Amino acid sequence: MTMRIAVAISGRGSNLEALLRALQPGAPAEIVLVVSDRVKAAGLAHAKSREIPAMVLPDPADAPAWLQLLREYQIDLLVLAGYLRLVPAPVVAAYRGRIINTHPSLLPAFGGKGMYGERVHQAVLESGARETGVTVHLVDEVYDRGAVLAQSRVPVLRDDTPERLAARVLQVEHRLLPAAVLAAAAAGRPVPLEGSGVGSQETGGGSQESGVGSQELGTQAQSPNSQLRGHS
Ligand code: GRF
Repeated sequence: MTMRIAVAISGRGSNLEALLRALQPGAPAEIVLVVSDRVKAAGLAHAKSREIPAMVLPDPADAPAWLQLLREYQIDLLVLAGYLRLVPAPVVAAYRGRIINTHPSLLPAFGGKGMYGERVHQAVLESGARETGVTVHLVDEVYDRGAVLAQSRVPVLRDDTPERLAARVLQVEHRLLPAAVLAAAAAGRPVPLEGSGVGSQETGGGSQESGVGSQELGTQAQSPNSQLRGHS
């Protein structure tokens, strides 16, 4: 059975586009809904051009509205792809284990409140870290703390700027997120991504980005009363 996916975005939507490219007709998963907290999110155009319903949430903290939407479209998996707002805790609870997020660092490093967009890469450079990467993880009530499903590493280069580093990390994200989604579709639920370079530091013999790797870090403590904060 085809896995029905909703993708939540706040901005450009290049990860949405990467997912749409990966999920051609006949794929085991289909994006049937795109949700945004911003009417001006540029990524909504990707949905519209493919005639995928694109909904702007009038109030992104309105859990019943989220739940109604996800149920109406019979969503099996919610993918946060550059979605920067809170997902209400009742939605997390109702879809536990069925919401994933992509984050442009090797969590738990450089995650947390305020760590989104270029700030992540700026912080990586300021820290002197020699590598960063991408994490795809399950969403729970604790900010950026759900179980890691996949990670892929990206070396930090000597002359990196936040923009250059962000661009290389994004390229990796565009491969890792679709791979994680396809693995979820094959398994019927999000699973740790098996395969090439699990938890490895493949850097392709000097290439600027790593292969798709994964690393299971186990589940994290959950706080049932808190809300999931914006993911970045
Ligand atoms: C991605 O790197 C995502 O992880 C981060 O912001 C970027 C969103 O890019 N939160 P896009 O909207 O998918 O192009």
